[in-house]
Amino acid sequence: MPRDQVRAVLEVGVQNGGSLLALAEIFPNAKICGIDKECSPETMMLETDRIKIVEGDATDVESLLVCGNWLKMKCDVIIDDGSHMPHEQIETARILYHGLADRSWYIIEDIYPSMFGPGLIEWIGSLTYAGYNGINRYSSIMIHPPLCVMSMVPEDERAK
Ligand SMILES: C[S@@+](CC[C@H](N)C(=O)[O-])C[C@H]1O[C@@H](n2cnc3c(N)ncnc32)[C@H](O)[C@@H]1O
Repeated sequence: MPRDQVRAVLEVGVQNGGSLLALAEIFPNAKICGIDKECSPETMMLETDRIKIVEGDATDVESLLVCGNWLKMKCDVIIDDGSHMPHEQIETARILYHGLADRSWYIIEDIYPSMFGPGLIEWIGSLTYAGYNGINRYSSIMIHPPLCVMSMVPEDERAK
């Protein structure tokens, strides 16, 4: 999808907000929502009509719903740069895959199996075969530690 057609971006893990500003530049026509457990007043000041920052836990459905309600559409790009802990990355992905648009991208940063033990890599691997609660909707999964990139194919184009 061309950058200028991206309409909704969600980032897990805002910290000082530098990446939100970068995403707003990269996707000039998109609404950008970030969620973080802890947001300083300085970071909150980065909010604009196109940038929203939600203080909340990205493993919590209610917090993620606040993001979805502001974006008002499914996401074209989701980036998880949050805790980097496999159990949280998995929980967040389980919730957020419901909010992915066709041809969207879901990127998980910092997959370190040797540091945090097994979990995410095995879980993602299972998506390509049996699927997991419908997550076999992802057609393309590239795992190049420390990065995992999944892309969502429209339903009518999926392999049966
Ligand atoms: C690596 S920093 C994000 C950096 C930012 N994306 C950037 O590139 O400038 C990770 C952030 O994730 C947040 N975080 C960790 N676990 C989280 C969770 N479960 N829900 C939301 N935010 C979380 C931390 O508070 C921290 O600010």
